[in-house]
Amino acid sequence: MNVLLVGSGGREDALAWRIRQSPLVERLLAAPGNPGIARHATCVDVRAADLDGIMALAAAERIDLTVVGPEAPLVAGLADRLEDRGLTVFGPRRQAAAIEGSKAFAKALMARHGIPTARFATFDDATAARRFARELGAPLVVKTDGLAAGKGAIVCATLADADRAIADCLERRAFGLSGATVVIEEFMAGEEASFFVIANGRDAVPLAAAQDHKTIFDDDRGPNTGGMGAYSPAPRVDAAMRDRVMAEIVRPTIAALAKDAEPYRGVLYVGLMLTAAGPRVVEFNCRFGDPECQALVARSGPDWVPLLRAAARGDALDAGAPWTTDWNAGGAADAAVCVSVASGGYPGPYATGVVIDGVERAEQHAGVRVFHAGTARRDGRLVTNGGRVLGVTAVAADLDTAIARAYAAVSEITFDGMHYRRDIGRKALAARRG
Ligand code: AMP
Ligand code: GLY
Repeated sequence: MNVLLVGSGGREDALAWRIRQSPLVERLLAAPGNPGIARHATCVDVRAADLDGIMALAAAERIDLTVVGPEAPLVAGLADRLEDRGLTVFGPRRQAAAIEGSKAFAKALMARHGIPTARFATFDDATAARRFARELGAPLVVKTDGLAAGKGAIVCATLADADRAIADCLERRAFGLSGATVVIEEFMAGEEASFFVIANGRDAVPLAAAQDHKTIFDDDRGPNTGGMGAYSPAPRVDAAMRDRVMAEIVRPTIAALAKDAEPYRGVLYVGLMLTAAGPRVVEFNCRFGDPECQALVARSGPDWVPLLRAAARGDALDAGAPWTTDWNAGGAADAAVCVSVASGGYPGPYATGVVIDGVERAEQHAGVRVFHAGTARRDGRLVTNGGRVLGVTAVAADLDTAIARAYAAVSEITFDGMHYRRDIGRKALAARRG
């Protein structure tokens, strides 16, 4: 079959690598891809946001399956357009993708169907919003309704912070239309985990869970980023917790979407808070996490393509498949770690076009793959082209070894201004030693 992968980040590099290994795949195209993805796919210069361009490409290249990496094209209706032309797409249609595209929609859906999440209300009027903030009390969280590139959740320690966030969104329009409506919700204490399922519209199978590291500095300090590293498995999400999340959150959500919106086909990313009262939803995303996906892909043994295709077509998902029973079947690894290597200044402004050295040396380390996130090729040299530049990913039989391998490989890589967190995975080791 011919597969088209939409996107250009580290998540898509990992998916491209895995999809290319499937014996079912004859040709793999990527739009637009990156130099890492170009090792596995033919990259075509069509941006993920260019829905017309992607439609034309899928038709011209007789694509059998389109796999969409990022959320924005899904929220804009790419899956609807492909399906309405009779094409098969892994990724939800617009109304189902609203689970990520509109926090107000996601929260209302959860409230209607009794899916556990933080207490909340939705506002477009600042006075009413301030009144509700006082009713909740600090700490609380102010969230833009629409997509805001990972910057739309403002955790407020005090009511003064909340007033500022409300004014930024509703009065100063700092987030444009994305923030013209806000969700204000109670702060949930606990540990976060990223939980992924593949859904076919009616039901879902869980993948392994992973843990992200959202802030820029070690020990969870500093501003939030897209994700500075991830590891899998997540020790707090054991089999009992997995079954609980499937029963209390995932199955009710898939049923609710089919009833109130549209059947959800694709990967559903459940951002969980493991509170003292049980798992609660922080947010839903309609895509794989980045860099969680890199850790999942590196760990997994099975061929992903039959599962992605079955979900996309709405076919039965094999409940006995390795995905649900034995994650390592097919001979991959028990643990994986991905360390994001970022540009100087990220998550603020940063330079691009900085020459990168040592990627090939890093990849010679046992168990290591370097996924490209923000890279480009200029005059034959690999250069930086984004905030998160590389995802240095290592697998091993245990997490300690995976961490050691990933950091040994990172130490081979150099570019001006490069920085990365040094504590990826450390929390999991601490949790285990208890
Ligand atoms: P979101 O964009 O909804 O994923 O939020 C980004 C981050 O803000 C999350 O990963 C959490 O760390 C934090 N966060 C969001 N909502 C809450 C909440 N209700 N309670 C505590 N932390 C939250
Ligand atoms: N790593 C967090 C995300 O992909 O949203």
